[in-house]
Amino acid sequence: MTKKIILKTLYEKKDEYVPLEELVNETGKSQKEVEIEFDTLEDEGYIINHSKLGYRLIKTPNLLLPYEVKKGLKTKFMGKDIHYFKEVDSTNDVAKYLAENGAEEGTVVVAEIQNRGKGRMGKTWISPPGGVWMSIILRPDIPTSKAPQLTLVTGVAVAETLKKELNLDVGIKWPNDILIGNKKVCGILTEVNANINKINYVIVGIGIDMNVDVPLLPPDLQEGATSLKNELDTEINGAILVQKFLLNLEKLYNQFTSGKFPDILNEWRFLSKTIGRKVEVRTRGKTIRGDAIGINKDGILILELDDGSLRKIISGECLHINTS
Ligand code: BTN
Repeated sequence: MTKKIILKTLYEKKDEYVPLEELVNETGKSQKEVEIEFDTLEDEGYIINHSKLGYRLIKTPNLLLPYEVKKGLKTKFMGKDIHYFKEVDSTNDVAKYLAENGAEEGTVVVAEIQNRGKGRMGKTWISPPGGVWMSIILRPDIPTSKAPQLTLVTGVAVAETLKKELNLDVGIKWPNDILIGNKKVCGILTEVNANINKINYVIVGIGIDMNVDVPLLPPDLQEGATSLKNELDTEINGAILVQKFLLNLEKLYNQFTSGKFPDILNEWRFLSKTIGRKVEVRTRGKTIRGDAIGINKDGILILELDDGSLRKIISGECLHINTS
């Protein structure tokens, strides 16, 4: 709380020195306590000038610090509670722990680095500094069978945010990869805790290669991956991107829980780079090739096989095949 008041005061008095006495008054803390808070802020990466006139904020770190994200957040419940980690194994696992212990819907877990980031189909998700590694706790009152649709809802929220805020030509590869051109910039991992009748919670994990340096990724990933910084040749402000994304997600989630999945699905179809393509889908040990002709009302991919038969694909890894 003290930190929040200090930052708020420094932001309000931008370009001015704020006397220590004023910060002592605002926070109700002692001089020593305020000075200790400044040490923490500097450790977090804030650059603060200190002179006999007081303290002046020079530079804010481009990190997903809760105060920076919440500052411009216009949501009602998404991201109202943010748990921030410099380093963590997996934000999805932390979110699961919090959800088990009663965390509210919309709680966000975010980390600068993940040491054991999880991808779909049991893969590892490489999570170096510069990414948005984030998990959100949801508690939708919907039939358990509909929980996987949240992956598509989240994919639309990411794609729309990148399109609108950064003017990027993004698309979605079924079910949930966000692509720029044919390179992946974001993946989504949805984990559901439910019984047949009721969802206890859903963890939606989002990994965006925001300011990640692509040449520093493992060689086998470099070819198929890109980052926002790589595409735009400039560093992206993470806190602003996350604010915009959470607002978009909240809007789509509210639509979803009030029965408007068909509208979201139409937007998904519009953003899809899979429909109309020849694809290969790897599902539980089997590989199926065919033309992706559409996605049905439940979000299931429909393939037309070479013999003209149709096949429904509920989950799997989809590869776009080059035909030219
Ligand atoms: C995929 O395989 O495409 C899904 C990747 C999901 C990665 C995100 S990063 C934040 C969250 N925590 C994890 O361990 N995984 C997800």
